Amino acid sequence: MKKQVLSILLPAIVLLTACGTHQNADTKANQYSVTEKPFGTLENEAVTKYTLTSPTGMQVSIINYGATVTSIMVPGKDKTMGDVILGFDTLPGYLQKTNPYIGAIVGRYGNRIAKGKFELDKHAYQLTLNDHGNTLHGGIRGLDKVIWTATRMPGDSSLQLTYTSPDGDQGFPGNLKVQVIYTVTSGNGLQIDYTATTDKATPINLTNHCYFNLSGGKEPTILNHEIMIQAAKYTAVDSLLIPTGQLPDVKGTPMDFSSPKLVGKDISLVKGGYDHNWVLSRNTKGLEKIATVYDAGSGRVMDVLTTEPGLQFYTGNFLDSTLTGKYGWVYAQHAALCLETQHFPDGPNQPSFPNTILKPGETYTHSTRYQFSVK
Ligand code: GLA
Repeated sequence: MKKQVLSILLPAIVLLTACGTHQNADTKANQYSVTEKPFGTLENEAVTKYTLTSPTGMQVSIINYGATVTSIMVPGKDKTMGDVILGFDTLPGYLQKTNPYIGAIVGRYGNRIAKGKFELDKHAYQLTLNDHGNTLHGGIRGLDKVIWTATRMPGDSSLQLTYTSPDGDQGFPGNLKVQVIYTVTSGNGLQIDYTATTDKATPINLTNHCYFNLSGGKEPTILNHEIMIQAAKYTAVDSLLIPTGQLPDVKGTPMDFSSPKLVGKDISLVKGGYDHNWVLSRNTKGLEKIATVYDAGSGRVMDVLTTEPGLQFYTGNFLDSTLTGKYGWVYAQHAALCLETQHFPDGPNQPSFPNTILKPGETYTHSTRYQFSVK
């Protein structure tokens, strides 16, 4: 009996092996999966949690409220899976007024616009103000606080989120159509691909606001994480974190991360902690590695690759133990760090900074990948 089955199966097996490449690609693709779970409702709209799993077991969960990444599970050097970002178990956690954009997509303009004002085509615009008289992360109700439309994509490795911000939203001109695609890669990476179009000229600066702590809950702060940022300059800011227009050298200052350094080494020398935009020293126009974070305890390494010219390195300075997240973790000051790939803050008011104005007929594009490994 067994022999008979084998003689029938054997030619099939030989055939399948012969079809090599195509078959392998299919098998690999099949190892990606997506699951969906209800995550609550907001203004009668359903919020859903999507979990993307890669062939190596990396798991990324995303909700369509704010296009927010709620967890990233990756292995440490002992092969234990750990969640390397902050987040909440429930929708009310994310809806808290004091939620500091945890895991969300921020926009239309990530970071600050001075006094929420800018001029375009001789027209003065006024945005909603939400940060000491300035506009932060798109204003009072930015892209982090709206429900996006989520669509699963063929192959199950990606999730597409779309949102149309209407003309005049938070004071911004033009109907802006935004698309974000999150993709888990076979090599433990999370890639974020952004595109947007508009029907009136408008400033745009989209980024993701994940708070990383690579220890997976073992370390209460990131002060012992090591970080490298490929940058020789940063944008100097005033006391409200608005750029002065100057681009000082990092060399010989606490801002120098051009070779790996512990986050905590010089942090006390920087008033309030790190919350600055580094001017990336790029060699290409494509997706390029511009930062690396390493947690020696867990052995986890995170490389940041981007197409953007800037990187906001923020050390969770405003976290103050008043928020408790998933697993009961209390978010104390410096519990996690953000690496927000972006154009420079206040771009619309700083003619010498890289252009942040999107015009009708053009397509805004930005790609960033958080790539995990161990050493
Ligand atoms: C950004 C800003 C910080 C802070 C956080 C959210 O990273 O640069 O100043 O506002 O968002 O708390």
